[in-house]
Amino acid sequence: MTTRILRGRVLSFVEEPQARDDRASYRLIEDGAVTIVDGIISAVGTFDPASAAGADIIDHRPYLILPGFIDAHIHFPQMQVIGAYAAALLEWLNTYTFIEEQRFADPAHAARIAGRFFDELIRHGTTTAAAYCSVHPQSVDAFFTAAGERNMLMVGGKVMMDRNAPEGLLDTAQSGYDDTKVLIGKWHGKGRAHCAITPRFAITSTHEQMAAAEALAREFPDLHIQTHVSENLAEIAFANELYPNYGDYVGIYEKFHLLGPKTLLGHCIHLSRRETEVLADTGSVAVFCPTSNLFIGSGLFDYDRLHSHGVRIATATDVGGGSSYSMLRTMDEGYKVMQLRGQRLTPLRSFYHLTLGNARAMSLDHRIGQLAPGMEADIVVLDSSATPQMRLRMETVDTLEQELFLLQTCGDDRAIAETYVMGEAQKSKLAS
Ligand code: GUN
Ligand code: ZN
Repeated sequence: MTTRILRGRVLSFVEEPQARDDRASYRLIEDGAVTIVDGIISAVGTFDPASAAGADIIDHRPYLILPGFIDAHIHFPQMQVIGAYAAALLEWLNTYTFIEEQRFADPAHAARIAGRFFDELIRHGTTTAAAYCSVHPQSVDAFFTAAGERNMLMVGGKVMMDRNAPEGLLDTAQSGYDDTKVLIGKWHGKGRAHCAITPRFAITSTHEQMAAAEALAREFPDLHIQTHVSENLAEIAFANELYPNYGDYVGIYEKFHLLGPKTLLGHCIHLSRRETEVLADTGSVAVFCPTSNLFIGSGLFDYDRLHSHGVRIATATDVGGGSSYSMLRTMDEGYKVMQLRGQRLTPLRSFYHLTLGNARAMSLDHRIGQLAPGMEADIVVLDSSATPQMRLRMETVDTLEQELFLLQTCGDDRAIAETYVMGEAQKSKLAS
């Protein structure tokens, strides 16, 4: 049994913040201690030298210690398409992304990129993500092998796509079903691995494949389902053309019984009132991907509208449509998207989303998202003075909210002083 104590300014949310300065939504311990035994948090409180005797103490003062960041939507085979220059979504997919993803038929390539992917997440303080692999089962093997080597809690899925893409990126309704089922048997529940049923989006799946995804969802009701919806106007028109009798885009997933509390729907930008109400009624999660929505020019996510209808919301990078692995950069861009809509994203709400909010949206809040006894010790340590300009600005910061806002506005991977996975330091082990 190894006992480790992380000492620093311990911050953990306990509820969704309401007012801008909602102090009841979080616990901050200025000289705090997170005690970890065999990867699990055993105690959180004020640092006490007497009870720390004999433990491995790591002093992170004056840094903030938070639960590790959670990214609710990312594409691991798109590391080498970040920053691809395209006018809009469908051109971006067809010109770059569908070409790049074909390379993941090669297990050696998939293994190389998977290693780089998790290193990048660790560098940016992200300890859990919901990821799309490619259509190839070997990409899922590479993904979970590399996640397992780092002991990371990851949700991942073999993309199902059987039309409207190059031949090298297509499965069939039957093979998509069979391969997904084999991968679930092989990986789901192995260590910290979680499989997700992953029909890419309605445009790249035939009716037969949607029915196959529905069958998988019925057979494996505990699994996450992840897909894309209502990202771009041309995409919406094409989806409705392919599925003319389904009413609207959300109606397609609804009729195949793919909506529910474990369904993560990337983008959700241009939803009608009916579609919004269906997401709220089914408990489905709308995933806000601001760097992607701005980079691909898809539109401005209407946070307040969805929130006021009771839709559950998560936040995510959507790399490689998204332009940064950093969840700090993501929330900064999310703040700006909301500014353009005349909405306000408070610093407390941002950091709630990065931790407990995204854990709740992914139904993982019994394991991660909070610093509390019994939780898995996935932890990020934040340096609010990581750069010369942040250090200078910190001289004028005197509240927690201001500090969090500075981290969000100016922070990136440089502000991540350390990333712990199940209590083990990971970032400092990486070559810089
Ligand atoms: N819609 C379907 N596939 C994708 C993808 O890979 N990225 C984004 N941003 N949207 C999609
Ligand atoms: Zn995506």
